[in-house]
Amino acid sequence: MTDFDQVVERRKLLKGAFALGATAFVASAVPFGRNVFAHGGIDFTPVAANGLDTITVPEGYSWDVVSAWGDPLWSGVPEFNQKTRGTGESQEGSFGDNNDGMALFDINGRSVLAVNNEYCNRPIIYGNRVSKLPENKDDVRKGIASHGVSVFEIEKSLGGKWRIKKDSPYNRKITADTKTEFTGPAKGHALLKTEEDPKGTTSKGTWNNCGNGRTPWGTYLACEENFNGYFSAPSNPNASLSAEHKRYGVKTKDWGYNWVRNQERFDVNLNPNEPHRAGYIVEIDPAKPQSTPRKHTAMGRMKHENCEVVVAKNGQVVAYMGDDERGEFLYKFVSHGKFVEGSSTNQDLLSSGELFVAVFKDTGRGEWVNLKDSGMNPAERSVFSRIAASKVGATTMDRPEWVACNPHKVEAYCALTNNKNRGKEGKNQPVNAVNPRAGNKYGQIVRWTPDGQDHTATGFKWDLFVMAGNPVVGSGLSKGSNNITPDNMFNSPDGIAFDSMGNLWIQTDGKYTNKDAFEGMGNNQMLLANPETGEIKRFLVGPKECEVTGITWSTDKKTMFIGIQHPGEKNPNECHWPDGGNSVPRSAVVAIKKNDGGIIG
Ligand code: FEO
Ligand code: CA
Ligand code: CA
Ligand code: CA
Repeated sequence: MTDFDQVVERRKLLKGAFALGATAFVASAVPFGRNVFAHGGIDFTPVAANGLDTITVPEGYSWDVVSAWGDPLWSGVPEFNQKTRGTGESQEGSFGDNNDGMALFDINGRSVLAVNNEYCNRPIIYGNRVSKLPENKDDVRKGIASHGVSVFEIEKSLGGKWRIKKDSPYNRKITADTKTEFTGPAKGHALLKTEEDPKGTTSKGTWNNCGNGRTPWGTYLACEENFNGYFSAPSNPNASLSAEHKRYGVKTKDWGYNWVRNQERFDVNLNPNEPHRAGYIVEIDPAKPQSTPRKHTAMGRMKHENCEVVVAKNGQVVAYMGDDERGEFLYKFVSHGKFVEGSSTNQDLLSSGELFVAVFKDTGRGEWVNLKDSGMNPAERSVFSRIAASKVGATTMDRPEWVACNPHKVEAYCALTNNKNRGKEGKNQPVNAVNPRAGNKYGQIVRWTPDGQDHTATGFKWDLFVMAGNPVVGSGLSKGSNNITPDNMFNSPDGIAFDSMGNLWIQTDGKYTNKDAFEGMGNNQMLLANPETGEIKRFLVGPKECEVTGITWSTDKKTMFIGIQHPGEKNPNECHWPDGGNSVPRSAVVAIKKNDGGIIG
């Protein structure tokens, strides 16, 4: 078969999927069949799906581990101990667990990474305990120190491999014990007052930081997601919690972290306002290791995924944010002030602004509705943003994960990862055009263009860039949109980001069973999409049971850093990545390079 014949054959194959899978709003058909994907200067032969316990990248590319869970950031700290899996003390001096969102900053010519350590894999970090859970105070201390944000300098060692630069003045651990300050409408409000901070102006620590953002003024944004799973109520396990706590999933039983054993503030019965101090966007200045991180209440409280910041054409700063829970919403913050290159006033931009939530109409149009319309006061809608958004009629979404803005075009994309509750009775999440599949197994990426090419505009038009699916075993909408083929299929898009050339990278956090509805998809993966044509090719497959999440680039764009999170999360004895042999699986930041030293993003 000639190349041309292959294209024709593939087009015939795709025709069925197109007819079945496309709604009026799905991106137009694109030709497939080319072996090499070339867009914005990146070309590679796509990799096949697999279930291997390693990272697979295309020919001509290679990867190395930069930092793995438990790697010391300072020279006095012991190396990771495979047997004990570390102590509270060693973890306080080491890279945390489950790295997620990250960004590289060039500070006076040095490369400084800020990396979220979202949570810990309890069966792994406590794998040396009979219960696979924290069994004493030091275990809890280790768990707390495995969360938060690790900031550290990296440098190239002999041989050109990126490594942690131990003892750099920029190295820093921000954990659930680090003091942070509030800004915005809820600062000092009664809802934030606790025994620990009677003034309600500070918060102790940050945890469960998922995706990230970066600002044009050089700061890092860590986004607090599932903060609720750390609270419990041993003082009264039958305590009845507020409707607001229920809306955010705060319960009298935690998820097994047992932080309350060391810190009574995590007892929600004794400290009902403590959960109100979490669920925010946290701004960190990596250039100032002594600075106090700030939680911006004006940007709302939710289970934040990431925070994609753009400067609108009039200079106002716009931040798009997903709230990752089934049936929750997509938000947009618009600053009151304007960005001025080099000005110290930029640091206040995220402290004051308007918060909007998205309404998607089935016509392909949409609208950002101001939470002011909820009738709630500014502090209340900052702390209970979900409730304000429900009041104004926001569209329930299929779990909004990362948002990414095209650097070459005024448009934005959001990964809607999956939603088993869509269309289910009693869930109040009816099927609609933007969330078109009942019991959505595979997820989709929605894209919107603001009216007037202006990110501050309240109107927009939208389409589905891709509906993931399985064109081999699926039927109807389960096949996915026309840009999904047997060669590029995946499920549950989560991390998405544009590189400087305008390529859209898609990372997945989905089912890796490789069976039934997911047959042929293999492990979680990373793909590259062409936003112009809709073409999508698989670039990387991760090791067993991992999620691929987090992406950033070196200053010269010759290294791409990605995150491998929770390898071996369910069967730790069957995964030994990255150390091999009989080792404990460890989450890690990975550097990917082109073997010819070329640009990779
Ligand atoms: Fe932490 Fe929604 O992923
Ligand atoms: Ca995620
Ligand atoms: Ca996810
Ligand atoms: Ca995960």
